[in-house]
Amino acid sequence: MKIAIINGPNLNLLGKREKGIYGNMSFEDYFAFLKEKYRHIDFHYFQSNIEGELVNELQRVGYEYDGIIMNPAAYTHTSVAIGDAIAAITTPVVEVHISNVHAREEFRKISHVSAKAAGSIIGLGLKGYELALLYLTDKG
Ligand code: DQA
Repeated sequence: MKIAIINGPNLNLLGKREKGIYGNMSFEDYFAFLKEKYRHIDFHYFQSNIEGELVNELQRVGYEYDGIIMNPAAYTHTSVAIGDAIAAITTPVVEVHISNVHAREEFRKISHVSAKAAGSIIGLGLKGYELALLYLTDKG
């Protein structure tokens, strides 16, 4: 089973950025834990700070992979292009946010992704990526 994890801008700074909101762990360390726990999954990880590169990656994996776990980060709130790309592809996308975006600034309550995603996991920390994986690998 092929699962892509796509992270948007500034998520390369997890473990260093606003630790009170996003925690102490880097995504590399969390990803190593996921790969170890779910050895049978063929994971592919992509992170970019550039909107168009995230669209390109969605198009690249979006007809071939079994599932996509995406945290579009700040582009969630601004990017019609990422929402359109998710609508265009056939692979299901689960939107993940580490923090509870509904308990923060008003602008974070808007998502261009949620309506196009299979579902959203919000505010449960890095655990949200694992919960998204469990859904994508066992949709019942
Ligand atoms: C985030 C929430 C976004 O509002 C923010 O811009 C991020 C991370 C989260 O995972 O909580 O960069 O997507």
